[in-house]
Amino acid sequence: SGSGDPARGRVLLAAPRGYCAGVDRAVVAVEKALERYGSPVYVRKQIVHNVHVVQRLEEQGAVFVDEVDEVPQGSHVVFSAHGVSPAVVRAAADRGLQAIDATCPLVTKVHREAVRFARDDRQILLIGHHGHEEVEGTMGEAPERTTLVGSPEEADTVEVADPDNLVWLSQTTLSVDETMETVRRLRVRFPNLADPPSDDICYATQNRQVAVKKIAGQSDVVLVVGSANSSNSVRLVEVALDHGARAAHRIDDAGELDPAWLEGAATVGVTSGASVPERLVQDLLSVLAERGFGTVEEVRTAEEDLVFSLPRELRRTASGAT
Ligand code: F3S
Repeated sequence: SGSGDPARGRVLLAAPRGYCAGVDRAVVAVEKALERYGSPVYVRKQIVHNVHVVQRLEEQGAVFVDEVDEVPQGSHVVFSAHGVSPAVVRAAADRGLQAIDATCPLVTKVHREAVRFARDDRQILLIGHHGHEEVEGTMGEAPERTTLVGSPEEADTVEVADPDNLVWLSQTTLSVDETMETVRRLRVRFPNLADPPSDDICYATQNRQVAVKKIAGQSDVVLVVGSANSSNSVRLVEVALDHGARAAHRIDDAGELDPAWLEGAATVGVTSGASVPERLVQDLLSVLAERGFGTVEEVRTAEEDLVFSLPRELRRTASGAT
């Protein structure tokens, strides 16, 4: 075993994988802001949950902070793709910061739904992960009307004030199957629970899960490129295991590949989370090829052509209104 083996096996490469429209837009927003305003441009939280993306932007002059009170007054600050609560927007304005909002439009859509339901005096059950930045931002729209449901198990115990006035919303990057299970269990307890007007789990999350399901059953091991704090990447590992992969591992890059995982494997599945640059996948494919997995078959389950326009603040500057 080890490197240099003649063709031991094949790679099934899931598609779609990698960058979604919201991540692409957020990363370009930071690059454009650096181009226009020069370094440093401050970014609240990781712009997207990927260590390599953050590192590369830091090298270009972006400065990542946890909260806006760490940003010098009057500076430019970019809000990350995961969105921010209204309290953060106010804090930035109070500090005289020039905010550039790189919140993914599909996250903003969920914020708008939360605002609307709160205005209609509904009680919101938000399905999502405790402590995730997106959830903190969405809950901030209507904190007193929103209750977080972190798992199917929590659906069995969550307490609500008015069981007949409930609507659920969700984080955009959850497992579709697990979310449906959470909703099912909620509805057992609250039969009048209303559905959101449209899917909150975004197209990119859904497409990547469908694609990994397709390759999982034929794969001895599935490798998911993505960072540990990337919700949609971590879900891809779980979905692969639920759908027949004998093993599945998340790695930040090819350097984290453990050769022991390939022992006895004939087929290796590969995919990547929505915040992962394609070059990291290509690097992994090169390493796999060196180890005898040189035949790559792409398995595509959907075409994606969604592109979001840049944040408003950068479009205005582009038209010369600075
Ligand atoms: Fe947006 Fe979905 Fe990507 S919410 S940032 S398109 S993973």
